[in-house]
Amino acid sequence: MKILITGTNGLLGQYLVRDCVQKGYTVVATGRGECKLSRDTLGNAVYKKMDITDKVAVETVLMETRPDIIIHAAAMAQPDACELDRAACSVTNVEATRYICDVAESINAKVIYISTDFVFDGKSGPYNEEGIPDPVNYYGQSKLDAEKIVQQLPKWTIVRTILVYGNILTGARSNIVTWVKDNLEKGNNIKVVNDQVRTPTYVEDLSRGILLVVEKDAEGIYHISGKEVFTPYEIALQIADFFGLDKSLMEKVDASVFTQPAVRPLKTGFIIEKAEKELGFNPVSFKEGISKIFQG
Ligand SMILES: NC(=O)c1ccc[n+]([C@@H]2O[C@H](COP(=O)([O-])OP(=O)(O)OC[C@H]3O[C@@H](n4cnc5c(N)ncnc54)[C@H](OP(=O)(O)O)[C@@H]3O)[C@@H](O)[C@H]2O)c1
Repeated sequence: MKILITGTNGLLGQYLVRDCVQKGYTVVATGRGECKLSRDTLGNAVYKKMDITDKVAVETVLMETRPDIIIHAAAMAQPDACELDRAACSVTNVEATRYICDVAESINAKVIYISTDFVFDGKSGPYNEEGIPDPVNYYGQSKLDAEKIVQQLPKWTIVRTILVYGNILTGARSNIVTWVKDNLEKGNNIKVVNDQVRTPTYVEDLSRGILLVVEKDAEGIYHISGKEVFTPYEIALQIADFFGLDKSLMEKVDASVFTQPAVRPLKTGFIIEKAEKELGFNPVSFKEGISKIFQG
């Protein structure tokens, strides 16, 4: 089985490469620009430069490599950047997905598309796969538009996930865990939102969940995240507890105190029963996730 992965210089992509190689698949890792993966992570995978917004590059790499499965993880994934540059967001998240799907159909490849809780409006989370999407920002809209393109294919799976945390193998990248830890260690006061709800996802669980989709040849939509429902403030409390840091530096606030370009859905979070039952997906607790990051 040959698997081509997009966005392999990113947080999720690097784990997908590592895990697909370890499972014995033939792996084509692709990314914008030079390969940032270590020799260890890359194993016997080949790396190809592929800017997904370059239609010719997408056609060339996919036609040359002819994968059985394309795991499409590359995206413009920062909601505020998407809101501020809607044209770039649309080309990267929507048009590029169309380029990939057009070739996928012609070579009879299945597409596993990585999507987000931000397709929902956050009025009635946690959501299962039957929830009706209604995005409140441009990033969410672009990911939903891409989902609709993917759903036109003969063979597709959409894996939606939420607030992914973990170590990036290719260097430091901030996420909620490192942000809280770094600030509290420096003695900085931080304001943390307490009126949003999420089910944070440990990156290795997400990669494993996607591998289960591959192994079981699962099709349709799957929600893959952690099981525990937390506000960001509750997440921060757990991080402070874990590292024995000063919780009094943290102030609970409503999301409305931040003026961010992209509105965030308030209450998302996923019900993951379908993935548990059909895939055997079994994520770690948030506490276990943090300990894996910092203690290996
Ligand atoms: N992280 C989360 O909390 C979260 C939550 C829900 C869903 N998701 C989805 O999960 C997927 C993976 O996200 P992630 O957390 O791994 O994000 P990430 O670390 O930002 O990785 C995204 C990757 O996409 C690549 N990319 C962007 N534009 C590209 C282009 N034109 N051509 C080729 N590659 C391009 C980036 O390349 P560079 O490295 O060159 O910038 C980056 O390596 C995304 O589809 C995202 O929407 C993430």
